[in-house]
Amino acid sequence: MRPHIICHMSTSIDGRLHPSRFTGTASGISRDVLRGHYEKVHDSFEADGWIIGRTTASEIAKGTERSIAGAPKLPREAHVGDIKGRKLAVTIDPSGRVHYGKDNIGGDHVVAVLGEQVSDAYLAEISEDGVSYIFAGAKGDDLSGAMQQLAAHFGAKKLLLEGGGKINGAFLKHRLIDEFSTLIYPGVDGVAG
Ligand SMILES: NC(=O)c1ccc[n+]([C@@H]2O[C@H](COP(=O)([O-])OP(=O)(O)OC[C@H]3O[C@@H](n4cnc5c(N)ncnc54)[C@H](OP(=O)(O)O)[C@@H]3O)[C@@H](O)[C@H]2O)c1
Repeated sequence: MRPHIICHMSTSIDGRLHPSRFTGTASGISRDVLRGHYEKVHDSFEADGWIIGRTTASEIAKGTERSIAGAPKLPREAHVGDIKGRKLAVTIDPSGRVHYGKDNIGGDHVVAVLGEQVSDAYLAEISEDGVSYIFAGAKGDDLSGAMQQLAAHFGAKKLLLEGGGKINGAFLKHRLIDEFSTLIYPGVDGVAG
C-alpha cells in the first residue's frame, strides 16, 4: 500500500515553474494574493504532507553542514522521529545533500528519503536535528518502495507532490501520480529551450 499522490503545481502560461522569473501581475493585483490561491488549494486537500525534490529542498531548508566526529555506524533502516502530530515534509535526497538544522520545514516534520550510500556523519547530523529518514534502496532511486514506507511507518494516506520538474517527472515515470492539480499563474516566463 502506498499513499494517494496528487501532483500540485502552479505554472506560468508557457508552462514554466520558477515563479521568480514570471512577468508581473496586472495592476492592482498582488503576487501574494495569487500565491495565496496555491496555499489555499494545498490546504483544501487535507493531505498528510507534501513531497519535494532535493534541489527545491536545498532552496528552502536553511541549515548548514556540521561535521560530526566519530559518528556511529547506523543501520540503514527507517528512523521515525518525534512527529508530534505534524504534517510531513518529505524530501527526496538520495545523496544526503540537504541540511536542516531543525526537525521541520515551515512547521511540517521532515522525513528525508535517502540512498543507503549516505555517510554515517550525515545520518548523525540529521538525527541530531530530529529529522526522520527512510531509505529508498542503495542509490535512493526506489521511489515506489519509499512511498510504501511512508504509509507503513508514518501512516501517510494522501501526499502532495510539489516539484520541481525533475522529481515530478521521476514520479510520473514510476507511475506514482494519481491526480494532477495545476494552477496557471497569469504571467509568462518567456525563456526559450
Ligand atoms: N512552480 C512551482 O510550483 C514549483 C514548485 C517546486 C519547485 N519549483 C522550482 O523548481 C526548481 C527545482 O526544480 P528541479 O527540477 O531542478 O529539481 P527538483 O525536482 O526539486 O530536484 C531534483 C533532484 O531530486 C533528486 N532526485 C531524487 N530522486 C530522483 C529521481 N528518481 N529522479 C530525478 N531526481 C531525483 C536529485 O538530487 P541530486 O541532484 O542530489 O541527485 C535531483 O537533482 C526550483 O528552483 C524551485 O524553485 C517550482
